[in-house]
Amino acid sequence: MRSLKILKTMNKSIIHKTPIDAGVVKKKIEASGLEKVGLASIRELVRLVNEIEKETGDKYIRMEMGVPGLPPSHYGVDGEIEALRKGVASIYPMIEGEEILKKEISRFVKNFINIDVNPKNCLPTVGSMQGAMASFLVSCRRDIQKDTTLFIDPGFPVQKQQHKVLGLKYETFDVYNYRGDKLKAKLESYLEKGNISTILYSNPNNPSWICFTEKELQTIGELANKYDVIIMEDLAYFAMDFRKDLSKPGVSPYQATVANYTGNYILLISSSKSFSYAGQRIGMLVISNELFDRRFPDLKRYFKTDGFGYSMVYGAVYSLSSGTSHSAQYGLAAMLKAANDGKFDFVESVKEYGERAKIMKKLFTDNGFKIVYDMDDNQPLADGFYFTFSYPGINGVDLLEELLYYGIGSIALITTGSERAEGLRACVSQVQREQFPVLEERLRIFNQHHK
Ligand SMILES: Cc1ncc(COP(=O)(O)O)c(C=O)c1O
Repeated sequence: MRSLKILKTMNKSIIHKTPIDAGVVKKKIEASGLEKVGLASIRELVRLVNEIEKETGDKYIRMEMGVPGLPPSHYGVDGEIEALRKGVASIYPMIEGEEILKKEISRFVKNFINIDVNPKNCLPTVGSMQGAMASFLVSCRRDIQKDTTLFIDPGFPVQKQQHKVLGLKYETFDVYNYRGDKLKAKLESYLEKGNISTILYSNPNNPSWICFTEKELQTIGELANKYDVIIMEDLAYFAMDFRKDLSKPGVSPYQATVANYTGNYILLISSSKSFSYAGQRIGMLVISNELFDRRFPDLKRYFKTDGFGYSMVYGAVYSLSSGTSHSAQYGLAAMLKAANDGKFDFVESVKEYGERAKIMKKLFTDNGFKIVYDMDDNQPLADGFYFTFSYPGINGVDLLEELLYYGIGSIALITTGSERAEGLRACVSQVQREQFPVLEERLRIFNQHHK
């Protein structure tokens, strides 16, 4: 028989029938062994929801993981098939990447960011995830005095896990209260100490979807020059600030970047979201011409040379995976070529996320929820891949757990370095439009039970 959920309020217990069998949800949460389900990692939550779905047969509104919900472009798939037919599977790829791909990455950053980077300094990696790992190995160990990374949070939790695995130190702050003119002093309060090697942020930001303004990027770039810090700009959501049309090759506006203000940069450009290519695990690591050729004597503690770029390729990427899957390189090269030649509008194909976000945010706010990060400096936040929400009177960790009984999966903002403990992150990509009525109904019932 279906179990009911007992909702404890101030001093009484109310029994409710929740959209998902409460007995199963409770049992699975207990069996997960997680100390606090609301603090679980994305992949742990994915596993838990999979198990509940399997036992109940009910489908969740899956908002916990940023999996692209759109098909990949045929340019990529055809490019890979053709390369496989030609026999690349049996051959080790060059660690620094195939010439054809390096050339297209260099064209791509010129066309869509308006920056000049030599193809030599454009490397494929096994997802941006590996690009970050390799960059930490080099950037964070290039100067014995500078042993700490500064994360401009909220951010992508796995990059902190990478730090822990590598035994690297980091500091972090939530940028929401330090936007605009306040950013400089806040950053300098860390940089002045002299221990920061690298600053990392994502733009657009996962999870809050804020986007840095030109002025803020200029501040970051100028401070990178002043304190000789490397900026790792994580462009996992490349060209997905849909408020601007960033889709035309060689035509302004371009993807905003710190590269306009400093030569101390590494760009991580993922193909997972903008090209719906997450499964093939390929990303682009773009190192400025200036930085690639710089020498840092302290690198010799870990690598054969003191050259930054050389250590990245023949030290870090070599050690991690000896390069990136051969066929995936051809797939990405084909997509980039089509985008560079103006034949493939990769931005158009992902605009759907912004449209979904707009509708979903309204479903939440119509049912008593609030948007947590709702402003972008002094403009309303854009609609994109993620949004953040809360429900009055419940903290984020408890809200996450509670929503599992209502068939809704998400992650807690507190696990992303956010100070907004009340909030959760919603990822719109896996929620199909046909599911909106179900989402609406579940939110309505939740509101009815909790208001
Ligand atoms: C901010 C950020 N950086 C990096 C990644 C990882 O990208 P990739 O799939 O290319 O490894 C993600 C994926 O969700 C992300 O959100």
